[in-house]
Formats: sequence, C-alpha cells, structure tokens
Amino acid sequence: MNENYIPRHVAIIMDGNGRWAARRGLSRDEGHKAGAEPIRIVLKAAQKAGVEFLTLYAFSTENWGRPEDEVQTLFELLFQYIQSEASELMASGVRLKTIGAVEALPIFTQKALDEVLRLTQENRSLTLTLALSYGSRAELTWVARELAAEVAAGHRALETITPETISEKLWTRELSDPDLLIRTGGDMRLSNFLLWQCAYTEFYFTPTLWPDFDAKDFRAALTAFAGRERRYGLSQK
Ligand code: IPE
Ligand code: IPE
Ligand code: MG
Repeated sequence: MNENYIPRHVAIIMDGNGRWAARRGLSRDEGHKAGAEPIRIVLKAAQKAGVEFLTLYAFSTENWGRPEDEVQTLFELLFQYIQSEASELMASGVRLKTIGAVEALPIFTQKALDEVLRLTQENRSLTLTLALSYGSRAELTWVARELAAEVAAGHRALETITPETISEKLWTRELSDPDLLIRTGGDMRLSNFLLWQCAYTEFYFTPTLWPDFDAKDFRAALTAFAGRERRYGLSQK
C-alpha cells in the first residue's frame, strides 16, 4: 500500500446535519450551521494532502422539496460562508466553481457566488466545486438535449457522440472524474450525485455525521483510498 497515493479529485456527500442537531436537541438549522466548520477543515486538509479537485454536494435538486424555511436557511448559510471565506480562498489560492442549476438559487446568493467565482478564477492551488441545486439526472438530461439539438440542426453526426463527448458536455467538464467519494452520515447511496462521473470512483462511507467530520476523518478516508486496488475491469495484477 502506498500511503502517498493521493486522490486527484475527492467528492463529498456532506450528510447528517439534521441528525447531528436532533441528537443534541437542537433545530435542524443549528445542524446546518455546524456544517460550515468541517468545510473549512476539509478544504485545508485536502490542500495540504495535494488534492487538486474537491467537490462538495451542498444542495440537491431533491432538497428543494424540504420545508421552505429550511431551504432559506441553507442559502443564507451558504451566503455567509462565501462572504466570510472569500479572502481565505484568495490567500490560499483556491478557485471556486459551482455545478448545478445555480440560476434557481435566491438572487443574493447568486450574486455573492458570482463575485467570488470571478475573484478566484485565476487561482490554481485547488479547485473547490460546490454542487448547488445539483442533480446528476438533470445534468445528463441537459447533455442529452444539447446533443440532440446539435444533431437535429445538422451540426453533428450521430456517430460522433461517444462517452468522451458526453463527459465534455457535463457541468464537470473542467474536472477529472472523482477518484474518491466520501459520504458521511452512514447512508450508502449516491442520492443523484455524479452518476456518470463515478463509474470507477472508490467509495468511502462513514457513520460520522458531517458536523463531526474532521481532519483526522479525512485522512482516514485518504488512507483507505491508498489501500484500494483500482482495476478498471482488467484482470488482477
Ligand atoms: C445534509 O444534512 C445537508 C443537506 C442535505 C442540505 P441533512 O439535512 O440531510 O441531515 P440528515 O441526513 O437529515 O441528518
Ligand atoms: C444528499 O443528502 C444531498 C446533500 C448532501 C446535499 P440527502 O440527505 O438529501 O440524501 P437522502 O435524502 O438521504 O438520499
Ligand atoms: Mg440527509
């Protein structure tokens, strides 16, 4: 096992804020609030380890179905996070990106995001991608429509559609496919996250609830990853 085998792209499903709060007799909002600190910790730990892409699932297409005030709290917290972290992202050379139907977000959140996306666009140390109003099925549907429109308009021949063409159209086209996917909170499912991109991703599930996830937990996931043998369908060496 090579302890130095670092994943180039780590994607995280940050789950368990509600249960963390419930166990303490707190409101779900308090759980979401407590979910900001692990983002800072993991970002630092990922950068220190030499991870190039960190992608965080912050809000799914399906999360729109939650009570309106919870949704509002989530976007207010996101707004606060972006505002308070902008200078730190600059200082540490982190480029911020988003994937998802960001146009569905409240305007104040979109504006704050736009500003920091622009501010950090030349940064090259690590790319932090926030999946916001993201759903893999919506993303793939969008790609299907784009390609169908190109064919219908006579701009593309059907045979030119390959797996690579699809990858190049996805919202994640500037990122490599995730090498490691971490899900906190104990559930073992993808919940509509990066379905295409995770074809050969290594999965790491932990019962730790997101607000409790720390640098030690992140390093444990990296260690587990370093012990995996990735075969991509080939015979064992
Ligand atoms: C993750 O925590 C945050 C979002 C999905 C936005 P949850 O709010 O899903 O917490 P649990 O899963 O109910 O504990
Ligand atoms: C996945 O968590 C989405 C995010 C972490 C943003 P959910 O809590 O929404 O997933 P399910 O409902 O347990 O599948
Ligand atoms: Mg959840």
